[in-house]
Amino acid sequence: MRAVDIIEKKRDGHALTREEIDFFVQGFTRGEIADYQAAAWAMAIYLRGMNEEETTNLTLSMAHSGEILDLASVSPRVLDKHSSGGVGDKTTLVVAPLIAALDLPFGKMSGRGLGFSGGTLDKLEAIPGWRANLSTEEFIAQLKRIGIVVAGQTHDLAPADGKLYALRDVTGTVSSLPLIAASIMSKKIAAGAQIIVLDVKVGKGAFMKTEEDATALAKLMVKIGQGAGRVVGAVISDMNQPLGNAVGNALEVVEAIETLKGRGPADFVEHCFAVAEQILLIAGVAQNEKDARAKLQGVWTSGKALQKFGDWIEGQSGTRRVLEDYAVLPRAQITEEVLAPRDGFIAAIQADEVGYTSVDLGGGRAKKGDSIDYAVGIVFKHKVGACVTRGEPLLALHANDRAKFDAAKARLLAAISLSDVPPAPLQLIHKIIR
Ligand code: URA
Repeated sequence: MRAVDIIEKKRDGHALTREEIDFFVQGFTRGEIADYQAAAWAMAIYLRGMNEEETTNLTLSMAHSGEILDLASVSPRVLDKHSSGGVGDKTTLVVAPLIAALDLPFGKMSGRGLGFSGGTLDKLEAIPGWRANLSTEEFIAQLKRIGIVVAGQTHDLAPADGKLYALRDVTGTVSSLPLIAASIMSKKIAAGAQIIVLDVKVGKGAFMKTEEDATALAKLMVKIGQGAGRVVGAVISDMNQPLGNAVGNALEVVEAIETLKGRGPADFVEHCFAVAEQILLIAGVAQNEKDARAKLQGVWTSGKALQKFGDWIEGQSGTRRVLEDYAVLPRAQITEEVLAPRDGFIAAIQADEVGYTSVDLGGGRAKKGDSIDYAVGIVFKHKVGACVTRGEPLLALHANDRAKFDAAKARLLAAISLSDVPPAPLQLIHKIIR
């Protein structure tokens, strides 16, 4: 078999066999197939798609590119959640400690920024010292000792996804249903959690733009997960405007900690509770949504979840001082407000544009291996539906370069539409799939 023949076969719209997919994935993982061939293959998949059988085979091949963790020695009920990618989506930073504070183990493999969407690992790495690159032994030890672990793909765990993910980020091949499904589910299968809730985003700031596509992605991932013996549910949630107020790595860490302290933005708090409730329900540890919410409220208001966040960060070598002193986080040299150009209601905030603005400020990567600027980003003062007057601050823009600041300001002003009439409210949770 030759890599080029497999690329051409997909380019010409034919379905690949399990052997061909395996040959490509394992060869790429071992370094025998070059990055440029893998990028061409990803583009062929992006353009031609894959059927359900091919997507399942791709997922399993990527999952088996490294070890498959068996977490039964930790617990028969390790919990996990995964987002399909959004803007301002720092949900894991709040949901993981909420769940673990209920003494339920939470173990997860996360990703970095992808296209316009932010990545959980990049956000957490804004905290000085925090480490994503854990060995299998460290992953299990942290889960046993602290009850929360979040790690990146490694040489041992889902290495094929680690390599392909970094290529997709910078080759225009992110928003492909089979590539997303395989990327997410290979990580979920490899990391070993038995119970998983998928948070599938829909809207302008998501890779799935319609509810139909988001539902198709969710159903396929649920089926792949169940086929691998996991209990999987999904939430289809809105991503037509950024989630919460903050977009940008360190800024999102602050917002997550503020949320754990009871001072988070209403939409973000509600979203975290909705996702965490589904986790408790499919895990069978809550009788109904009311019961689940009461349990979560208990550990939130008592401060137990906040302390769990500190334990988690410290356990992965990050500084716990971040809980009390945000000055330990990188801070941008320029922080200025952007003002409303006229009176009106905020009718729309184009979330993908906001995500790209954050990337252009330095918060994401333009090419594989780029370092990122953790300090930059945007903090909204108002969201869709708010009524603002001319000259009132719409947002605070954090930048480390004046030219980038000016470009970001223009792009953000173009991404925010003001109207004379109030817009229809955005629905946060579109659908639950169990
Ligand atoms: N999250 C992932 O892990 N992979 C994707 O492709 C998209 C979101």
